[in-house]
Amino acid sequence: MTETQVAIVGAGPAGLVLARLLKRRGVEAVVLELRSRDYVEGRVRAGVLEQRTVDLLDEAGVAERLHREGMVHQGVELRFGGRSHRIDLSGLTGGRKITVYGQQEVVKDLIAARLESGLPLHFEVSDVTVADVESERPAVRFTHEGSEVELRCDVIAGCDGFHGICRPAIASALRVFEREYPFAWLGILANAKPSSEELIYANHANGFALHSMRSPEVIRSYLQCRPDEDLDEWPDERVWEELQTRFELDEGFSLNEGEIFDKGVTPMRSFVVEPMQHGRLFLAGDAAHIVPPTGAKGLNLAVADVEVLASALESFYGSGDTAGLDAYSEQCLRRVWRVQHFSSWMTSMLHRPPGQDPFEAKLQLSQLEYVCSSHAASTTLAENYVGLERV
Ligand code: FAD
Ligand code: PHB
Repeated sequence: MTETQVAIVGAGPAGLVLARLLKRRGVEAVVLELRSRDYVEGRVRAGVLEQRTVDLLDEAGVAERLHREGMVHQGVELRFGGRSHRIDLSGLTGGRKITVYGQQEVVKDLIAARLESGLPLHFEVSDVTVADVESERPAVRFTHEGSEVELRCDVIAGCDGFHGICRPAIASALRVFEREYPFAWLGILANAKPSSEELIYANHANGFALHSMRSPEVIRSYLQCRPDEDLDEWPDERVWEELQTRFELDEGFSLNEGEIFDKGVTPMRSFVVEPMQHGRLFLAGDAAHIVPPTGAKGLNLAVADVEVLASALESFYGSGDTAGLDAYSEQCLRRVWRVQHFSSWMTSMLHRPPGQDPFEAKLQLSQLEYVCSSHAASTTLAENYVGLERV
């Protein structure tokens, strides 16, 4: 048997940021990850960091490369009806900004920092189960390098994503709220120069498209597709043709093309469990909630959860005060539901559901025009997009 203060299940953004914050607060933790380091570092996902996420990574001392390579954006573009409309994120929010820096890179920086500190982070663990979560000494059991291990702790942080084992272990204590969407995103990475300095969210008769980037030489783009889309039906030429169509402008526009080196389909779902805790098990990030990616919030929300959890644990270990831990779920859920609303709103405004009726299409267009022409409505989009202030 081994022991620690906090057992962290999952080395995604939630688990790794939590481990880092706890280290800085003098709380001991062990991080357990199912996959290999290469796998975790190679997983292509989100790309937009809110300013509060950047500030937190800064304070955690893991933002040096982020500041060097991340791309700071002060606006985004909405494109529809053959016209482009800029939302001045910074101008509308008192100077707040977003940073485009791949989740993969954030994860690499956090893993490097963890390993450098010599603190425990175990990859390729298997048979992970949690036990005694209603007691003051819960445990995580797992197999590592051929040995069965029982890790006793004070608190388990369930940071193991949507398909992890922590949420199912306390399912009977949770209520689920969810919504599935009748579409998904086909995402690509390509060696091409960005065709715009800012992200472009397009609503086109053929469906939604997003133009994003990872560096001055690499673009990330998405196309609305069917949830069961067969990638074999999407040779590179078709992807480019469809992207060119969905980003077209009356005044003319041509997207820079290049070699596509990654292609995948991401399903879309909204999902929340309440509460986000049971006994001494606390869920954070995708283990507790999923948002459709249209608001670029998944990663930011995961980081916001663990910031709350780290503060609560600091008080718990500092003075034995459990008030922060008791209020964890309640405190997180306020932000979670705001972000759920924003993500769902952006999704419904920008996608074309299959069989959309003409009345609905007109309402969508009216909403887009309002968001782009009213100061109040653009401010609503901007302040949600750059992210709510830290609590
Ligand atoms: P995760 O990143 O899922 O990390 C959980 C970790 O736990 C993983 O490393 C997993 O291997 C590990 N794990 C699972 N089970 C166990 C176990 N039993 N024991 C130990 N470890 C375990 N958001 C956006 O904003 N934009 C996007 O474009 C976007 N694209 C996405 C594409 C995909 C395919 C997915 C799944 C998500 C995407 N997201 C996107 C959402 C965003 O990436 C997530 O919100 C973010 O990764 C959440 O971080 P997390 O640490 O909570 O969970
Ligand atoms: C990305 O760059 O991967 C990205 C950007 C904005 C989103 C989602 C994903 O809304």
